[in-house]
Amino acid sequence: MHTLTTDKQHDESRQGESFAPFAADPNRYDRHFYIESYGCQMNFADSEVVASILQDQGYGATRQPDQADLILLNTCSIREKAEQTVRKRLTEFKQLKREKKGLLIGVLGCMAERLKSKFLEEERLVDIVVGPDAYRTLPQLIEEAGTGQKAVNVLLSREETYADIAPVRLGSNGVSAFVSIMRGCNNMCSFCVVPFTRGRERSRDDRSILAECLDLFQKGYREVTLLGQNVDSYHFTPESGGSAVHFAALLEQVARISPLLRIRFSTSHPKDITDEVLHTMARYPNICRYIHLPVQSGSSRVLQLMNRTYTREWYKAKVDRIREILPDCGISSDIIAGFCTETEADHQDTLDIMQYSRYDFSYMFFYSERPGTLAQRRYADDVPESIKKARLQQIVALQNELSLISNRQDIGKVFEVLIEGDSKRDEQSWMGRNSQNKVLVFPKTVPGLKRGDYVQVKVDQCTQATLLGSLVTE
Ligand code: SAH
Ligand code: SF4
Ligand code: F3S
Repeated sequence: MHTLTTDKQHDESRQGESFAPFAADPNRYDRHFYIESYGCQMNFADSEVVASILQDQGYGATRQPDQADLILLNTCSIREKAEQTVRKRLTEFKQLKREKKGLLIGVLGCMAERLKSKFLEEERLVDIVVGPDAYRTLPQLIEEAGTGQKAVNVLLSREETYADIAPVRLGSNGVSAFVSIMRGCNNMCSFCVVPFTRGRERSRDDRSILAECLDLFQKGYREVTLLGQNVDSYHFTPESGGSAVHFAALLEQVARISPLLRIRFSTSHPKDITDEVLHTMARYPNICRYIHLPVQSGSSRVLQLMNRTYTREWYKAKVDRIREILPDCGISSDIIAGFCTETEADHQDTLDIMQYSRYDFSYMFFYSERPGTLAQRRYADDVPESIKKARLQQIVALQNELSLISNRQDIGKVFEVLIEGDSKRDEQSWMGRNSQNKVLVFPKTVPGLKRGDYVQVKVDQCTQATLLGSLVTE
C-alpha cells in the first residue's frame, strides 16, 4: 500500500532546507570534505562546483562529518527559518570541532553573503565564510584558515558563471542532473533577498552549457534541468561578436542533443516567458511539458507591492496561453501568504487564482521579512503571524485538493516515464516521472529494466502526491 508521501525527494530538494547526500567516495584521497546544501537547486548545483574545486586540491567527498577535515554548509537566506536551520546545524558541529584538532568549518552560499564577516563574530566556530561568486578562491581561504586566521571572501562578480568548471555530481541518481545556465537576479521582488545574496544577473556561455549537457548524456544521464533564478531572461552574447543567444534558442540547442534527453528548466518569471519558448517546447517532445510559474499572490494590489510587474489578469492570460499552445502542460507555482498589508480579500484573490490556474503542485510559504529587502525598508510586516499561518493553511488545503483533482484526471492514461530508481517505500516498485513532472510508482513486473530507461506506464490509482500505475507491455 502506498501512502501520500511516496517519492517526494525531488520536491524536498528544490527549496526545502534539506540535506545533500553524497556520491560514493573513492578511497583515494587523504583529505576529506563534507558538504551539506540548503535552499534552492542553484545551491545544490553550486555545491557540485565546490566539490570539483576541492577535488582538484586533493579533497575527496565523505558522507560522514566525523571523518572530514573540512565541513562546509552551503546556506540559504530566503526565509528566517532557513537561517535558523543552519545555525542549529552549526551548533551540532561544535562538539566535533572540539574533538578534532585542525577541523575547519566553512559557511558558503547566501547566508555567508548576507552576513559577511559578521558571521564570524556571531558564530565563533566558523573559520571560513565564502559568498556564491568566490568559490574559486576556496583553496587560498582554506590555506589561510589552516594557519589559524579567519578567512572571508564575499565579493560578488558581474562575470562569474563557473562555466569552465565540470561539476562533480554529488548524490546523483545517474539519470537527472542540474545544469546552471545563469547566475544572479536583476529583478527586485520586494520580499526577496536573492538579488542581494547572488548579485547581478549574468548568463553562461551557451557552448559550455551544451558541452556539459552532451557530456551528461554520453555518461548515461537522461534528464537535465537548466537552472537560473529567471531562466527566460537568459541571453549570452559571444565575445567574438555575433547575435545574442536567447532562452528559446538555448532550449532548442539542448533539445537537439538527443530525443532521449529530457530537458526541464526552472524558474520562469511569468513576465519573461515568451510565446517563442512555448512554441519551442511544442516542437520538441523531449522538452518536458512542465512549467514552474510562481504567482506569489493573486491580488493585483499585492503583486504591485511585491514589485512582480504583472497583474492578476496578465498572469491569467499567461496561463491561458500555456494551455493553448501546450494543452498537456503541467503548471506549478510558488505562493506567499500574508505579505505586508494583505487583506482577507487579497487572500481570497490568491485562492481564486489557484483555482483558475489549476496548479498541479505548489511551494507555499508565509511571508518572512528579510533584512535589507525593499519590503523591509518600505512596508510594515503587519499581518499577524496567526493570520499568516491560517491563510497558509487554507492555501495548502486548496492545493492538496487541486493536486488530487489533477491526479485523478490522469487515471486510465498512459504516460512515458523515465525510471529514476526504486520507490522509496517499496523496493519491488520503480519510481519515475512523466513529462509533466508527476511522480509515478509501478511494480517491477518486467525483468531487465534499469534506471534511465523509458517505459510506458498506465495510471491505475492515485494519491494527491503520486500516480500509481502498471507497466504497459505490448
Ligand atoms: N527566482 C524564483 C524564486 C526564488 S525564491 C522566482 O522568481 O520565482 C523561491 C520562492 O521563495 C519564491 O518564489 C517565493 O515564493 C519564496 N520567497 C522568497 N522570499 C520570501 C520571503 N521573504 N518570505 C516568504 N517566501 C519567500
Ligand atoms: Fe527573487 Fe524575484 Fe529574483 Fe525570483 S525573480 S530570485 S523572487 S527577486
Ligand atoms: Fe536560498 Fe540563495 Fe537559493 S537565498 S533560495 S539559496 S538563491
